[in-house]
Amino acid sequence: MNRTLLEKYNVPGPRYTSYPTVPYWEKNPSTDEWIVSLRKALLTSEGAAIYVHIPFCESLCTYCGCNNRITRNRSVGMPYVQTVLKEFALYRERLQTGEKIPLGELHLGGGTPTFLAPDELTVLLRGILDHCTPVEDHEFSVEVDPRVTSTDHLAALREFGFRRISLGIQDFDPKVQEIVHRIQSVEQVEKVTSEARKLGFDSVNFDLIYGLPFQTVSSIEGTIRSVSALRPDRIAFYSYAHVPWIRAGQRRFTELDLPDGEEKRRLYERGRELLEQEGYVEIGMDHFALKTDSLYTSTLAGGLHRNFMGYTARNVNPILALGVSAIGDAWTAFAQNEKLLETYCERVERGEIPVSRGHVLDPEDLVLRKHILNLMTRMETSWETSEMKTPYLESVPARLSELEKDGLLKVTGNRCTVLESGRPFLRNICMAFDARLERKAPGTRLFSSTV
Ligand SMILES: C[S@@+](CC[C@H](N)C(=O)[O-])C[C@H]1O[C@@H](n2cnc3c(N)ncnc32)[C@H](O)[C@@H]1O
Ligand code: SF4
Repeated sequence: MNRTLLEKYNVPGPRYTSYPTVPYWEKNPSTDEWIVSLRKALLTSEGAAIYVHIPFCESLCTYCGCNNRITRNRSVGMPYVQTVLKEFALYRERLQTGEKIPLGELHLGGGTPTFLAPDELTVLLRGILDHCTPVEDHEFSVEVDPRVTSTDHLAALREFGFRRISLGIQDFDPKVQEIVHRIQSVEQVEKVTSEARKLGFDSVNFDLIYGLPFQTVSSIEGTIRSVSALRPDRIAFYSYAHVPWIRAGQRRFTELDLPDGEEKRRLYERGRELLEQEGYVEIGMDHFALKTDSLYTSTLAGGLHRNFMGYTARNVNPILALGVSAIGDAWTAFAQNEKLLETYCERVERGEIPVSRGHVLDPEDLVLRKHILNLMTRMETSWETSEMKTPYLESVPARLSELEKDGLLKVTGNRCTVLESGRPFLRNICMAFDARLERKAPGTRLFSSTV
């Protein structure tokens, strides 16, 4: 890795799970506008996605950037399930779907969905699936914390057709685990993985993070070796997002404990090298998959997609999001629920759709969204001459010239292709298409560093 490039491009920048990025949302949809956008998207949809956010975790992992509520009080589970089901009923009433909703994807995320007891998951899933018709090749997936996931949880999820499971691993090194307050053994992970496979989960993902406090090249090697031995189908190898001004937990270690830009990149590159030796292929940004996995085949076929849940093998639209802080996407509009649990519950109890903010995309947003998505998923994008009427796009080739001079990409005619040397700077390349970021440089710290 070229050190000068790293110094030049390691700046704060978005991860582009959406465009416009959340801090730049400004045109809030009214509840009616949001419902109309969802209804329109449903009319042309071959199957919607439903995302349910379960915020609870038993203990705080100090690196965590997710929206969570730490509690050991298990009695919060069932009331929360009932609130989510009431929110779903409010949507059905407002959307007037009449019949059952065709369902392409169902994803339980968090927090920790398996904080809920198996019978609570059963009530939740029955309450949702009673009103949906899963389409033929539907995919149901869940994020679990291996430390709190039992065989009964897995069996309850399989009962409803869940076949994809994602396990939070992060790192296996004892020193790293101690400082991030997440002690979990390889044996624990192995047990959940093999039980899940025995029960019929045919796609297993592991989440790892590089850039955590005390990580070294040799600790990453150890973690990757243990991980590869368990042969997950997919691996998310996330860049640690350090945002201590937003996440107080991250103040429990100091920046001196973190690998710096160059060292952090070395961790990723060594991890990638080992994963490639084990037959994994790099997908998009920070993801790997075996050649038998649909993320890989979808990448080859040009069908890879990216949304708030990360990379997915296909574009399922709209996303109806339920639960505190969950973000819905109707392609032409986004909406996020209340981020504070109590406010979310109160609003649902009052019979309100609990959206707190969102964004209606304007014609320029829609064009730029497409290009940023193309870059994040296909490593290239091209524009029609007619699109050049979009004023910002007109200026993009000039903005790309500096990145091209640095050997990160190639522009030929109306096409921009990310070169291998540009992959580590994919977020920076997308930033050249980000009109909203360009027009309004953030006055406060918003994003983690790009590398
Ligand atoms: C909702 S959590 C996963 C499920 C479960 N709560 C667990 O931890 O096992 C989603 C993933 O986000 C990733 N993550 C959380 N905070 C992060 C951060 N600050 N930077 C990068 N990745 C992060 C972790 O890899 C984590 O597994
Ligand atoms: S990483 Fe998972 S278990 Fe840990 S605090 Fe975040 S959401 Fe909870």
